[in-house]
Amino acid sequence: MEKSGDGSFRFIKRLMLILSCLSYSVVGSDCTTTTTIDYVSALGDPGMKNDGLRVAIEAWNQCNEVGEEAKNMGSPRMADCFDLDYSSLPVRINHKVDEKDNKLGVQNGTYGGIIAGDDADIYAAQKEIYLGNKCQVMDKPNPWQFWMIMLKNGNTDTLAAICPENGKKANPFPPTGRFPCFGKGCMNMPSMHHEYTSFVDQEGHMMSGSFYGTWDLDSDKEEDESVVGNNSYYKVKWEKKIGGNESWVFHHVLKTSSKYPWLMLYLRADASRGLSGGYHYDTRGMMKMTPKSPNFKVRFKLEVLKGGGSGSQFYLMDMGSCWKNDGRDCDGEVTTDVTRYSEMIINPETTAVCNRNRLNACPPHHTFPNGTKVHRTDKERFPYEAYHYYCVPGNARFAESPYEVCDPYSNPQPQEILQILPHPVWEQFGYPTKKGQGWIGDPTTWELDVGKLSQSLYFYQDPGTKPVERHWSSIDLGTEIYMSKNQIAEWTVTDFDIVIPMTHISVE
Ligand SMILES: *[C@@H]1O[C@H](CO)[C@@H](O)[C@H](O)[C@H]1NC(C)=O
Ligand SMILES: *[C@@H]1O[C@H](CO)[C@@H](O)[C@H](O)[C@H]1NC(C)=O
Ligand SMILES: *[C@@H]1O[C@H](CO)[C@@H](O)[C@H](O)[C@H]1NC(C)=O
Ligand SMILES: *[C@@H]1O[C@H](CO)[C@@H](O)[C@H](O)[C@H]1NC(C)=O
Repeated sequence: MEKSGDGSFRFIKRLMLILSCLSYSVVGSDCTTTTTIDYVSALGDPGMKNDGLRVAIEAWNQCNEVGEEAKNMGSPRMADCFDLDYSSLPVRINHKVDEKDNKLGVQNGTYGGIIAGDDADIYAAQKEIYLGNKCQVMDKPNPWQFWMIMLKNGNTDTLAAICPENGKKANPFPPTGRFPCFGKGCMNMPSMHHEYTSFVDQEGHMMSGSFYGTWDLDSDKEEDESVVGNNSYYKVKWEKKIGGNESWVFHHVLKTSSKYPWLMLYLRADASRGLSGGYHYDTRGMMKMTPKSPNFKVRFKLEVLKGGGSGSQFYLMDMGSCWKNDGRDCDGEVTTDVTRYSEMIINPETTAVCNRNRLNACPPHHTFPNGTKVHRTDKERFPYEAYHYYCVPGNARFAESPYEVCDPYSNPQPQEILQILPHPVWEQFGYPTKKGQGWIGDPTTWELDVGKLSQSLYFYQDPGTKPVERHWSSIDLGTEIYMSKNQIAEWTVTDFDIVIPMTHISVE
């Protein structure tokens, strides 16, 4: 992909700054007092400004697996990756992934070097590597592949016991009302239709493409039926004017239905290799460096157009990582790996579960900026309103009572979740402090100090173990519409970037 001229210019500027600092230090002046912190992007496409695009989509059942592919759709991972050829007029879009690649599924056997036997889950993992190789951009310090659109269906067939329980084989149990399921086959993959990125105007200035589909396969249409009818629906459409200094606009729509009342749609920047949050295998992504707490910031512009109802847990920021309770790195062993998530929910209709009378849904303590830790039993000082929900990993042996255990089925491994709400205690990190900020009618460009925030949040480790260095392999935003039928959420994301101070770059 074309490196933006802006990027290389800034690099030279920085280099000159460093050189001039070195020369100043020779004459004895203290350079550090006059140098402001310089940031570099951790992403392959800083601020979504490159004309060429790399975007992929993936769809999951409740435990981030496939189970069974939807008919005629292939494995639920696809990509739209292209470079522009400016050497001819009109400018041409050169796609790197074709229809044959995108439609590959488990019935295609070993085509493309994929070795998955008849296992649709392993096939999807391998297909990501296959698509990643087609989209990969060589870069420093590491190559990168694509933005990732993630879809997930929360339906759970408890009688089929498809998802493991905290990483262990689960036993079937009767439906409880805790998980939606209309009966056999409720965990199906959605249809996935694709409009390849193309020029959409006569002049060849405007580029656009999309992925869309439905989980209600009986009402699936090849043409984009949009949100009419009572079917579930998703669409992510991207648009950009060629040239210039503007971001791609990612426009998202998600609609639930009576059969699919719990759906998720996120736009993710994932690590370009290794185990990213929620997976037990090597994945691909947009980050050429994995950000580490406390030294990184996340910038983007979010415009929420439709909220998705009171059950829509809209995540202004969602971060995912993985480490074991004894502090070791995750290695794909699903009974001891623990996915760690933290999210800020900005839907003002969200009602907090954590409160002074329900301490089991609050983290054990809150840490103030001056380092003071306040225990959740300190009713005077603990900021209950800043927390939505906290739950401990199912394999935490020394969790502090009282506690709630996280949903044991929703990841291939146990998980820990810490969800926060707008509150003045997050102000120093640039997060919203009041309900309604950044919501419908308040499009906002955010610069969130996710690094510092994620360093200060509580996460479980076994007592006496060395606190882990917190690396965040997934940084994303989007919504999880929980248990609400026929709700529509709609939003746009632009200018997404993750930046790391120059002084904290460790080249692996
Ligand atoms: C994959 O399998 C499908 C269904 O059998 C077939 O239509 C398609 O051509 C196959 N793709 C390749 C690349 O062989
Ligand atoms: C959607 O469902 C409602 C309630 O069941 C019904 O009244 C309405 O006609 C349906 N709409 C469409 C377009 O099928
Ligand atoms: C491009 O836009 C960014 C902000 O979005 C700005 O900081 C930068 O200076 C602009 N570059 C040019 C060359 O206009
Ligand atoms: C730290 O900050 C908290 C909250 O602002 C405050 O209550 C506490 O007194 C402070 N502690 C110290 C030692 O300054």
